[in-house]
Amino acid sequence: MNTPRQLKSLYQQGTNITALLREEQGLHQNTQKIIETAYDLQAGSYVAAMEDPNTVDYKRNYTSEIAKVILSLCEPKTILEAGVGEATTLSGVLQHLNADVRSFGFDLSWSRISYARRWLQRQGKR
Ligand SMILES: C[S@@+](CC[C@H](N)C(=O)[O-])C[C@H]1O[C@@H](n2cnc3c(N)ncnc32)[C@H](O)[C@@H]1O
Repeated sequence: MNTPRQLKSLYQQGTNITALLREEQGLHQNTQKIIETAYDLQAGSYVAAMEDPNTVDYKRNYTSEIAKVILSLCEPKTILEAGVGEATTLSGVLQHLNADVRSFGFDLSWSRISYARRWLQRQGKR
């Protein structure tokens, strides 16, 4: 069994962490813990990707489309993203909705939620 530090190092070397953990545990499917571990090791990667102008462009278009779908269905007062990650999608969607829409998100990965909070603060959102 690898320690978290060893797993981080393996992730940085490009190892497929979910495959490794499944193999270690003799499983054919991911468990919640395996998904949580793999996503946690990647914490910060979505915010870091927003340094790339191409990603920012892609995200702008993508979140605009999501907002269009939402607005075609209702005029939301609140919005909840399940598996919000680092909120890089949520923040984009909010830019296309009324400023008074209240937003919520949850995620398996606490590390990613921590990045999400900081990202939303940087975007002037709570
Ligand atoms: C592919 S990422 C997408 C993150 C975000 N929705 C976005 O668009 O940037 C999927 C996220 O879902 C989370 N997740 C996966 N299964 C989950 C579950 N059962 N409950 C809560 N979060 C979950 C992961 O931790 C990860 O942050």
